[in-house]
Amino acid sequence: RGMFAMPPADTLIIGGGLAGLFCALKLAPRPVTVLAAAPIGHGASSAWAQAGIAAAVSQGDTIEQHLADTLAAGDGIVDEEIARGMVSEAAARVHDLLGYGVPFDRDLGGRLQVSREAAHSQSRVVRVRGDMAGRAIMQALVEAVRRTPSIRVLEGFIAETLIMNDGHVAGVIANGRHLPARAVVLATGGIGHLYQVTTNPPEASGGGIGMAARAGATLADMEFVQFHPTALGVGKDPAPLATEALRGHGATLVNNKGERFMFAHHPDGEMAPRDVVARGIFAEIMAGRGAWLDCTKAVGEHFSEEFPTVYGYCREAGIDPVTQPIPVVPAAHYFMGGVLTDAQGRTSLEGLWACGEVASTGVHGANRLASNSLLEAVVFAARVAGNVEMNLSDQKTLREEHPPLSCRTSPPQGGRLHRHRRSVSTADVEGERQGAYQPISPLEGEMPGRAEGGIHFNQAVDCAPHALLRKTMSAHFGVIRHRIGMEEGLRIILGLERTNRNAAFANTLTTAKLVAVSALKREESRGAHYRTDFPQARPECQRRSLITLAEAEKF
Ligand code: SIN
Repeated sequence: RGMFAMPPADTLIIGGGLAGLFCALKLAPRPVTVLAAAPIGHGASSAWAQAGIAAAVSQGDTIEQHLADTLAAGDGIVDEEIARGMVSEAAARVHDLLGYGVPFDRDLGGRLQVSREAAHSQSRVVRVRGDMAGRAIMQALVEAVRRTPSIRVLEGFIAETLIMNDGHVAGVIANGRHLPARAVVLATGGIGHLYQVTTNPPEASGGGIGMAARAGATLADMEFVQFHPTALGVGKDPAPLATEALRGHGATLVNNKGERFMFAHHPDGEMAPRDVVARGIFAEIMAGRGAWLDCTKAVGEHFSEEFPTVYGYCREAGIDPVTQPIPVVPAAHYFMGGVLTDAQGRTSLEGLWACGEVASTGVHGANRLASNSLLEAVVFAARVAGNVEMNLSDQKTLREEHPPLSCRTSPPQGGRLHRHRRSVSTADVEGERQGAYQPISPLEGEMPGRAEGGIHFNQAVDCAPHALLRKTMSAHFGVIRHRIGMEEGLRIILGLERTNRNAAFANTLTTAKLVAVSALKREESRGAHYRTDFPQARPECQRRSLITLAEAEKF
């Protein structure tokens, strides 16, 4: 056995959605491992996004107008400087995506075609074949990742616990395996599947946020859950989306009396901010009148060419959207909260970065502007890649100046993959620091399959606790909230925590608890957080909310 210096730097990206894959590609040729719960590109909300990416690329539009719309939608608590940076970089990131082969729609003159969405003062949503942007973007990135030799992909792994060493993140435990890393990037997506009605895949269960919280990370804006106004109300889980671009195209919302009810709520009617439209629809449903999206005049016979994805969903449900209005319901869709990050995607924990929906960058405030989510994912994934790269290069310089004494060339007998490990000691990480752990080799033949039925917690969490959690979140932390209901909801979550024994579900419950406590703490209505006991915004509450798990547990 010879002696050699430390193995090459290894960045571990947890999450195989848009942010995770874009970050991995931006880091190439640096060696990167992408750890994903499902096969990459599947199980990612990004793949289900329909409209596209907001970018001020068309004539007459400006970065300033995009910023102004972002600030207005965010209802007073957007971090303006960070949002300005995001909208300024939009065109460059769209250009990157074109470089990875994303076939954005172009007009006859070769210019990018853009759609209109609610709360945008301009048409500025760069799209693919009408409503297929998410799918096309993910397909292009998956292909780019598969042909990039520096990116290793491990699929079927659920991250459970961050490995900590002297207060900084040094890897992750996934499926009971110990995966040390010099830099860890969280890109695990959002929390939609905490709710009974959601447009998100089962993987969006808040696991990454809970895991970071349990390691001591600071979270932000955890009370702000965005409900998409128009998911198809056809009893499917997840609920298929009817893109907002349909309303941008002139589709109207009507109740069972044929009344266009949105103007009673907002002068912009169907084009009002997303939270206002979601509440308008919710009110009609609660009043027993139901809500339908009528596209028959605005889109009519062009439906299948202009919105092929929605058309397919409707036909599967036995609806012909050319001639029939589509039943719609609000559905948990996007999380403005998450792990607090700075402009470079750094979290409050050294060694841990976050990008995509798991992160709370401050660009969305209390309510995200439509199609700013894919934009945020690519802008901050690129920034995280730049910052990780800089950080690891600095570490390398230090190491060259102070090389470790010696490291073994071969892995320790029987100790390379630690199965069934539940807790991590400093000694584990010491081993890694001294080179005792090689990077994990690909695990062909050992991939745990995707769980059936949408539950994704490794060793089957009893479906009943998960169903109870989703019901509780929808009932008490949904479109409309009140202190009494929220206190009851928090009691149920705490009860589930007391009996749960599953590491991954514990992360989900932690996230749910943080949403609950944050929602109780914000005693006002703002953006997506609407309380009937505090129906107005209060100027003294006009700021982002920060919380740690330790603080939430004292509440
Ligand atoms: C949609 O197409 O309506 C969804 C877009 C988004 O959530 O940004």
